[in-house]
Amino acid sequence: MPTLAGTVCMGLITIVMGVQVSIAAPNELESKRADVAKGEKVFVRHCAGCHGSEGKGDGYLLLGPEPANLTRPTTKKRSDTMLLQTIHEGKPNMPSWKTRLSEGDSRNVLAYIRTLKK
Ligand code: HEC
Repeated sequence: MPTLAGTVCMGLITIVMGVQVSIAAPNELESKRADVAKGEKVFVRHCAGCHGSEGKGDGYLLLGPEPANLTRPTTKKRSDTMLLQTIHEGKPNMPSWKTRLSEGDSRNVLAYIRTLKK
């Protein structure tokens, strides 16, 4: 016979799982909604100078860290969250884009970077 504690516990698990599902769904939709064509425009205008037109890191070389080759496996393996953070915060030799790109454009440009071939 189920105890009261057991019933409450199952109830909580159901609620927790329900919440996770409803949090996960909009995120998934958001990444699908990213506009690669818009992302390409952002990339050409703001990023290609350093990262190169194909993202291979062959743009301007400054003294210090070289622009990342965005098609390399190391970058491909990084999570969206991590790369979005780099785009927002910048890096040594890379400006911060937080105030210049909207949240949507940051996602769009990341979606475009994800399409770049090695
Ligand atoms: C002034 C040159 C410059 C510009 C402009 C620039 N970047 Fe960068 N970017 C860099 C450098 C340099 C690094 C690597 C820094 C390091 O290795 O510490 C980097 C790293 C990155 C990374 C991290 C890659 C990884 O593997 O972690 C991403 C993502 C990135 N840039 C995206 C962009 C996007 C998107 C834009 C345009 C909105 C942009 N960058 C514009 C110089 C630039």
